Amino acid sequence: MRDAAPQTIYLSDYTPFGWLVDKVDLTFILAPHATRVKSRIAFSPNPDAPAQAFFLHGEELKLISASIDGTAVDTQLTAQGLSCQVPDTAFVWEAEVEIDPANNTALEGLYMSNGMYCTQCEAEGFRKITFYPDRPDVMSTFTVRIEGSADTPVMLSNGNPVSSGDGFAEWHDPWPKPAYLFALVAGELVAQSDRFTTASGKDVALNLWVRPGDEGKCAFGMEALKKSMKWDEDVYGREYDLEVFNIVAVDDFNMGAMENKGLNIFNSSAVLASPETSTDMNFERIEAIIAHEYFHNWTGNRITCRDWFQLCLKEGLTVFRDAQFTSDMRSAPVKRIQDAIDLRARQFPEDGGPLAHPVRPDQYQEINNFYTATVYEKGAEVIGMLKRLVGDDGYKAALDLYFDRHDGQACTIEDWLQVFEDATGRDLAQFKRWYTQAGTPRVSVAEHWADGTYTLTFRQETKPSAATPAPLPQVIPMAIGLLNPNGDEVLPTTVLEITEEEQSFRFEDLAARPVPSLLRGFSAPVTLDRDATTEERAFLLAHDTDSFTRWEAGNALAQQTLLDMAADGAVPAAAYLDGMKAVLRDDSLDPAYRALMLSFPTQSALAGALADKGITPDPDAIWQAVETLRQSLAEHLQDVLPRLEAETRVDGPYRPDAEQSGKRALGGAVLGLLTRLDGGAAAAAQYAAADNMTLKLNALACLILAGKGEAQLAEFYDNWQHDRLVIDKWFGLQIMQAAPERVVDVARALTEHPDFNMKNPNRFRATLGALAGHHAGFHRKDGAGYDLLADWLIRLDPVNPQTTARMCTAFQTWKRYDATRRGHARAALDRIAATEGLSRDVSEMVQRILA
Ligand code: TRP
Ligand code: ZN
Repeated sequence: MRDAAPQTIYLSDYTPFGWLVDKVDLTFILAPHATRVKSRIAFSPNPDAPAQAFFLHGEELKLISASIDGTAVDTQLTAQGLSCQVPDTAFVWEAEVEIDPANNTALEGLYMSNGMYCTQCEAEGFRKITFYPDRPDVMSTFTVRIEGSADTPVMLSNGNPVSSGDGFAEWHDPWPKPAYLFALVAGELVAQSDRFTTASGKDVALNLWVRPGDEGKCAFGMEALKKSMKWDEDVYGREYDLEVFNIVAVDDFNMGAMENKGLNIFNSSAVLASPETSTDMNFERIEAIIAHEYFHNWTGNRITCRDWFQLCLKEGLTVFRDAQFTSDMRSAPVKRIQDAIDLRARQFPEDGGPLAHPVRPDQYQEINNFYTATVYEKGAEVIGMLKRLVGDDGYKAALDLYFDRHDGQACTIEDWLQVFEDATGRDLAQFKRWYTQAGTPRVSVAEHWADGTYTLTFRQETKPSAATPAPLPQVIPMAIGLLNPNGDEVLPTTVLEITEEEQSFRFEDLAARPVPSLLRGFSAPVTLDRDATTEERAFLLAHDTDSFTRWEAGNALAQQTLLDMAADGAVPAAAYLDGMKAVLRDDSLDPAYRALMLSFPTQSALAGALADKGITPDPDAIWQAVETLRQSLAEHLQDVLPRLEAETRVDGPYRPDAEQSGKRALGGAVLGLLTRLDGGAAAAAQYAAADNMTLKLNALACLILAGKGEAQLAEFYDNWQHDRLVIDKWFGLQIMQAAPERVVDVARALTEHPDFNMKNPNRFRATLGALAGHHAGFHRKDGAGYDLLADWLIRLDPVNPQTTARMCTAFQTWKRYDATRRGHARAALDRIAATEGLSRDVSEMVQRILA
């Protein structure tokens, strides 16, 4: 549809744009099918750029007129943009184009959602609004005039309001910005408003804009915004820099949210919340996303990216910052464990499969395909390692220098590393490989003990990939501790810097052979390859002083027993069951932490672990192992469950804070186990009594898994029919909790439900995303899971290529499985690849996955 022959873009081809943009004036005359966009852009020659032809990006635009310095010009148009002759001095470009927001289902550029106009420009959506040098290193100030109608009483854009009146509004953004940060919203909206006074005493108006009816879901988001603003002042010394900060909630949105300058736009699922309609996890995610987008004001907007290869410059750093914020607002140990679980579930498979790419990629066809767990989450981990290596003071000095030196610029990873070198004197040449090499290093460990000297020898190895055929050794900060056999710590947390392929560290004058506690705090995004004994893991589970490695010991015990059970039908390991019982009884431990202790590695992660050992994973056997172990755990813990359950009750009204949500998380895990013993009686009671969505949904999940809950599902639907976000949960839950042999049928039936709407990404993901996320269901041996997903990806691609391409990642692990499954997966992928008019987004993904 878009391109006959997709082109590959290379980092090494970077050249600056030949002109500077001194100022942009835009006028929008809104109409659903024929919005007029008038642009007036002041260009001047860029003294730092090589000579080049004048070219402006522009896609799906109807050109009405174009002129230079007031005189009409001849233009050459292609599907990608426009060229024309320009003077060799400064000039003013004016153009008028017409666009059709009502038919824009790709949700990129200017589009409509429930009668509301909104925009999404990152990465390259601005070129669907008007002709422009749509690249992040071209920065300018923008003045925007919006002319609307009675249907658009509220009209917003970036920056500060200038004036407004009957049917129009004008905005001016004084901060130069790239076009990807442009935003416009117009429609019938109501605001929850508040104010914030910055550290230097400036008063900022805060507004959270929603559709009438959603006013009751704004309070939490507003509090999160104020906390974020305060935190960035306290921790990074960063103040907000405009008179207003607007957030808008939109129902149809491709991702979580977008950091447009002064006008953040959010997927409604990432900002709207109330106790009745949202779970504790929703609240926590909303707090983090509000913070993330707000933090972009400095890391992304004031300092932006030179080109899209540098995406991790803003995303890795901003994820790192939002993780620090969450750790400060909630529990740091719990956040660290959640992040490790998430990285293993989403980033490790990417880094170990056909989609592997460096944190800073060096080539792409469609940049939208590189908003990945590697760029975001591994990008944040790399900054965490950097901070560990240079220390807290070094990190602070480097960040201060970064803001000082680069404010107002479009930067690269080289600029970023340079401030660390300059601020700390450390040579980061080898460290840079974390940005330029793909793949997860595997670190194996050998121990030696003799005459009071204990030696640890580490070996690192990264699997070659298409992106990085010959990986070199990386700098791995390995945080460790040593424990005495009685449980005392003989060596407190110490960071070993592994730089060689193989490297030894000696610890002398020890009274007894120590037990090592390795990769404390998950100090590097690596796989630790160590066949520790069951006894040693049980010992660490009981005694480790580091909260991460203590959790990890329990997790590793669970993983080992599950793998043994899946591979050869072993029985659940007693060491695991007994260890869990001891940990759960320990009421000095945070309930949220104990809830994490009870979690198992994901079934997909178990499949990955088997594949790493050269064993072909069998999804049905993995499913069965998990079921059996959960049942054994329920029986083994039977006598402690009632006491635990009592401990998880909360007093007073619902609060989505760490304390209450931790209790509910543990309560949820306990209910899951109880359901295996009582057939769902407790779950049914909890469902009936619950006055918040966390308890309701948890009870409903247990009931469905127990093969019950039909009445409750019907009641739930009747209650919440009017609430899109709650109905998304209703769609998702039925699929996620279904038994493997039923998943495909349940998902298919839901795609035929009158409320299924493939044009709404949230609903599509709630349904087909849940299918893809059900390991045993999606990887059904007869290929029915692959086929159903492929059918829908083929259908969605012409409507919304970006969301379709993201969901292709469900196939990224296809080569792990047996020949039968591989055959079905390949057939499904081939069928997608052979689809006529496939988007550039999806064709790149399928081509890489098949390679
Ligand atoms: N920059 C956004 C963020 O990280 C993410 C983003 C990129 C996005 N492309 C998008 C969001 C398209 C919505 C739609 O916060
Ligand atoms: Zn971001």
